[in-house]
Amino acid sequence: MKVAIVQNRPEFGNVQENLNRIEEMLVGKTADLYVLPELFATGYRFKDMDEAHHYAELVPGGMTTNFLISLAKKHSAHFIAGLVEIDGDRIFNSSVIVGPHGFVGRYRKIHLFDTEKVCFHAGTEAPPVFDLNGAKVGVMICFDWRFPETARSLALKGAELIAHPSNLVLLHCPQAMITRCLENRVFAITVDRVGDEERISGEKLAFIGQSQVVDPDGNILVRASETEEEVHIVDIDLDKARDKYLNSQNEIFKDRRPDLYR
Ligand code: ACM
Repeated sequence: MKVAIVQNRPEFGNVQENLNRIEEMLVGKTADLYVLPELFATGYRFKDMDEAHHYAELVPGGMTTNFLISLAKKHSAHFIAGLVEIDGDRIFNSSVIVGPHGFVGRYRKIHLFDTEKVCFHAGTEAPPVFDLNGAKVGVMICFDWRFPETARSLALKGAELIAHPSNLVLLHCPQAMITRCLENRVFAITVDRVGDEERISGEKLAFIGQSQVVDPDGNILVRASETEEEVHIVDIDLDKARDKYLNSQNEIFKDRRPDLYR
């Protein structure tokens, strides 16, 4: 299976230009699954929920989901990417999953980071696992990494690969995801953006790039730069994630002791 990481540099609020740039970046690229950052088309730092509301879209039905579906048709592939979702009077930091046949599903971020708590409602449903042409793909978003239960619960539900749209500002995530992969024997595709935003004077956020693909043995198959827009395509063998044995004696899920801890 070929997976693509698409590390972009969105300009806050310039949704149409940010979408056009993604289309340009993908010309001539071929993969089965493309992962894009959290909030890849809007930028990250909303000032408050009213501003997030202004950029929020229906999922499915909104402009960004439709754009991703058109790319999925064009590339005969699946796409997972972050956007602001509106559902009634609630606003979510969501990821959408689409394929050549259209909308597949969504995930609404459950662990909101810092000022996200004043811009979004927290998701109320468990992170999901989708069967994408036989690949079991779990989805989590950025700060979910800090809660190992997120990746664990996805792996226990059968995820072989975790797609992880992100806008990273904390430095430890790329290294921590290696541990998530070792703990669960899964692949993780963390896709970040680059650049910075100073939407509120004196509160500059710098995004750390370093989008990466990590395998179930903790090997970094590719890691992008800290500063550039980049697309990387990596061939992964999901059988590696289906085998939970470390050696003939240790199967990491069967060896768990939930009778002794929760
Ligand atoms: C984050 O969760 N975007 C830091």
